[in-house]
Amino acid sequence: MTAPAIDDLARDRGSLPFAGTATTGVAVAGWGYALPVRRVTNDDLAETLDTSDAWIAERTGIRERRVSGDGESTAPLAVAASRAALERAGLAPAEVDVVVVATSTPERLIPSTAAIVAAELGISAGAFDLNAACAGFVYGLTTTAALIGQGMAHTALVVGADTLTRFTDPDDRGTAVLFGDAAGALVLAGTGSRAPAAHPRTPEPAVPGLVSCDLVGDPGGIDLLVVPAGGSARPASTDTVAAREHYLQMDGREVFRRAVRAVATSVDRTLARAGCTADDVTWFVPHQANARIVDAVLPRIGIPPERTVSNVDRFGNTSAASIPLALAEEADGGRLGAGDLVLACGFGAGLTVGTALWRWGTPE
Ligand code: ACO
Repeated sequence: MTAPAIDDLARDRGSLPFAGTATTGVAVAGWGYALPVRRVTNDDLAETLDTSDAWIAERTGIRERRVSGDGESTAPLAVAASRAALERAGLAPAEVDVVVVATSTPERLIPSTAAIVAAELGISAGAFDLNAACAGFVYGLTTTAALIGQGMAHTALVVGADTLTRFTDPDDRGTAVLFGDAAGALVLAGTGSRAPAAHPRTPEPAVPGLVSCDLVGDPGGIDLLVVPAGGSARPASTDTVAAREHYLQMDGREVFRRAVRAVATSVDRTLARAGCTADDVTWFVPHQANARIVDAVLPRIGIPPERTVSNVDRFGNTSAASIPLALAEEADGGRLGAGDLVLACGFGAGLTVGTALWRWGTPE
């Protein structure tokens, strides 16, 4: 396949792609995740909902999920994942220059979950939330890599944390079976060496960090995944509660259709920008929403299931946590090695899509 010129891609999309202008590589110094204790199987759900293990497993690939209980809301999960990542990195909280938490289910509306996490960990660095729904972690990863790459931070804590079960109507079988709660975190650190080139095959030895990315939207899907009330447009009232408007409402079939198309195109663009093909990718780490979405995407992008990470059967859709959770499990299991090219792709409400091609490497 001949890669389209970056300028052509940018014109198509109306915005500039990442073009390898960063001044330093970015290593993954640490990783960690946190899960609620309570495991809820499909059979457990079938006790109160008109559904079955067979339907859920066949239509989604999900067998069980973790559901948060007391003390397991978004911030505590994010804090636990962050502590694990910092410990693995061998860093003290004071050494972190910036904290980014990707979430669409914040601990509170105000202050940000990132500020709560920073306060809990004793970090006085800048901290902010980022909401790109289930694509949030990829947006957080690219944003923090850019901050480090441009010399605005040396060490960053980037977290994906969500507790969507708290915003899901337990009586709506169309959504209640899909989601689980979790948090995943990476500690990123500048390597001081030159950033990865836009073409990942050239630099030897490979410099870790962001190789290319694609952050896009599908505005036609703006109404497909919505929590109607609780924001400034429709503040909480007894009416909104009575109408169950604080719960997630979703047109699952249309999200499915658009997600398959958007993920495949975004992956193609990201690879083309790096001058790569699917054969160069060591691990594809898609957002874990539904195994059937991933099954439909794989033949379109030419990556086999053996090089695709999947944990949706055990955790369901954990939104912004799904990609860092998968990365942390892969790294813990020794399946991610220095020099691996990781292709992460998230999609979610908005619709928002984010893909990052990342050269994995730990600090020397
Ligand atoms: N158990 C049993 N039957 C069910 C269930 C259930 N849990 N849910 C729906 N059904 C029924 C429907 O009522 C429908 O019945 P009908 O034919 O009698 O009307 C039938 O199953 C088929 O419904 P569909 O909605 O067409 O089922 P589909 O195969 O599309 O699967 C699903 C539904 C799993 C929600 C799928 O559309 C999907 O995964 N969509 C993507 C959702 C997604 O990824 N969302 C998250 C995005 S990330 C974020 O930002 C939060």
